[in-house]
Amino acid sequence: MEIPSMFDQISRKYDIANRVLSLGLDTLWRKKALKEAFKHLPAKKIDMLDIACGTGDMLTTAKEIFKDRLNLGVGLDPSLKMVERAKSKCRNLNFHLVLGTAENLPFKENSFDLITVAFGVRNFKNRQKGLKEIYRTLKEGGILTILEFSPPSNGNFLEKLSWFYTKRIVPLLGGVITGNKEAYSYLSNSIERFPTSENLSKELKHIGFQVLVVKKLFPPITVLYVGRKN
Ligand SMILES: C[S@@+](CC[C@H](N)C(=O)[O-])C[C@H]1O[C@@H](n2cnc3c(N)ncnc32)[C@H](O)[C@@H]1O
Repeated sequence: MEIPSMFDQISRKYDIANRVLSLGLDTLWRKKALKEAFKHLPAKKIDMLDIACGTGDMLTTAKEIFKDRLNLGVGLDPSLKMVERAKSKCRNLNFHLVLGTAENLPFKENSFDLITVAFGVRNFKNRQKGLKEIYRTLKEGGILTILEFSPPSNGNFLEKLSWFYTKRIVPLLGGVITGNKEAYSYLSNSIERFPTSENLSKELKHIGFQVLVVKKLFPPITVLYVGRKN
């Protein structure tokens, strides 16, 4: 199944599944990512693009954190049903929500101060192309913030435990909540195929980003990256 169709199918229960499966931590991860981005942004109004915006949680969190500093908020995602949910959630927030993929961003070069991708880079069909598009559309000095899960490593007990939870428990629970076990098996399978934080940092540097932050959050399979367009 195509990835956007899979997200169409789980869109109705997506938010509740996130809250339950992450034990509420997903909201803290987004806040942490945006607060970290905030530290590296110049003290002026912010034009922001959230790629793989899903149901819009990164945008609503950005409004909470940046308040009036947020000048422009754009969300982009290829799943129509996820975008529809984002539209209804962001009804009064004056955001622009568009259908599209990271690999072909419908924006001019040097458009945004901040681009965020929360749990979306793993879904890019062509990661290299998507990251290059991000680089192209960021303003000079602009900030990229990525939240993503990292594959299993020979880490400590907590890493092993969180990986066991992701691989064994999440597909069962996610399947019960959304009726789509396949989508939650895809989650752990796609994490296993995803680069380690060291390798993703190398990819970002290769494209031209200055990597400012690579931080494991709690639990440590969740990683926050902040890069700057040089
Ligand atoms: C796990 S959800 C993350 C949603 C949201 N960012 C969040 O934090 O909850 C991943 C999203 O990536 C989107 N996606 C899939 N392929 C994509 C692509 N090529 N470019 C951009 N987004 C994509 C899916 O439609 C889905 O909404």
